[in-house]
Amino acid sequence: MISVLVAGYGVMTRGIIPHIVQKAGARVFLTSRHMRTAPSGVTLLTLDELARTPPDVILGCFESDERSREFWTDPQVLAAVSRSRSACIEMSTVTPGWIEEWHALIGDHGGATIESPVTGSKVGAAGGTLSAFLHASVPDDRAWQVLDTFVTKKYHFSAPGNPSRFKLVYNAWGAALLHTLTAFIPTLQDDLAEDFAVAAEIVQGDGWMSLVAASKLGRMVEQNFEDPDFALTHMVKDLRYAHSVLGEANPLVNLVYQAFLNAESTYGGTADYTAVTGEKNREEVGTP
Ligand SMILES: NC(=O)c1ccc[n+]([C@@H]2O[C@H](COP(=O)([O-])OP(=O)(O)OC[C@H]3O[C@@H](n4cnc5c(N)ncnc54)[C@H](OP(=O)(O)O)[C@@H]3O)[C@@H](O)[C@H]2O)c1
Repeated sequence: MISVLVAGYGVMTRGIIPHIVQKAGARVFLTSRHMRTAPSGVTLLTLDELARTPPDVILGCFESDERSREFWTDPQVLAAVSRSRSACIEMSTVTPGWIEEWHALIGDHGGATIESPVTGSKVGAAGGTLSAFLHASVPDDRAWQVLDTFVTKKYHFSAPGNPSRFKLVYNAWGAALLHTLTAFIPTLQDDLAEDFAVAAEIVQGDGWMSLVAASKLGRMVEQNFEDPDFALTHMVKDLRYAHSVLGEANPLVNLVYQAFLNAESTYGGTADYTAVTGEKNREEVGTP
């Protein structure tokens, strides 16, 4: 039976851990800075205890480059990687610069690297239906044994860093699409009054924008930004990182980034990222 260490307990790992526990045929450990009780089927592990149980697979999902670096460069983590020649999966959305360093660092310690940013949000994590953007240094069955429990689509990139480059552009594009709701929906709400319900039915069901509207209009209309699927603070981080791929002078990216920064200061970083469409945020920045 293989052993799996999950590092960090957040929206994404809370969703995927039950799938690993139930389907991977693995012993599952969790290392977390804030968890004091283990989720069902999981054993909490400190990094000091890692030497006794070096894992076959280590899966990290972190809030930033800094936290990812802090974990993976920890001498106890690297010693465990060397002992088990672990398959290391990095699921966080991070910069291409850091992930390329990470491939080299883990490779130097004998580990296999699987760069694997994902999409599908909280619902996809909980349902085990995430899509993964992958670059694997070597094929490693242990990694697929774990990933296949919660990923339904795998897209393979040939070069290290490219999954992260793609993910940052993809997220920035999504952020820009979400932000466009603030340019058009308030006018429909004001001008159509009770007929806005008809408009909402149309924009959510007809036309090529309907995927965006069907997915996000509800939170905007209800101004419901609690219990985040994806925290504002992470979208701000992703847009900041996206500049490393899209450049500093992309006017749309800069406008969208500013809108998300304002939303973060108005609603707080733990609000759902749809708070960029919030009324208070519109008062703050004006509609574009
Ligand atoms: N959420 C999404 O829809 C989504 C989708 C695709 C990609 N991502 C990416 O995946 C990464 C993680 O995202 P996430 O949404 O899972 O982040 P998250 O819920 O904010 O968790 C990030 C880290 O924060 C700590 N944490 C979580 N809840 C906490 C609490 N109540 N108190 C104190 N610390 C807490 C955890 O570390 P410890 O356990 O060590 O304390 C966890 O590893 C990010 O890079 C994000 O961009 C997210």
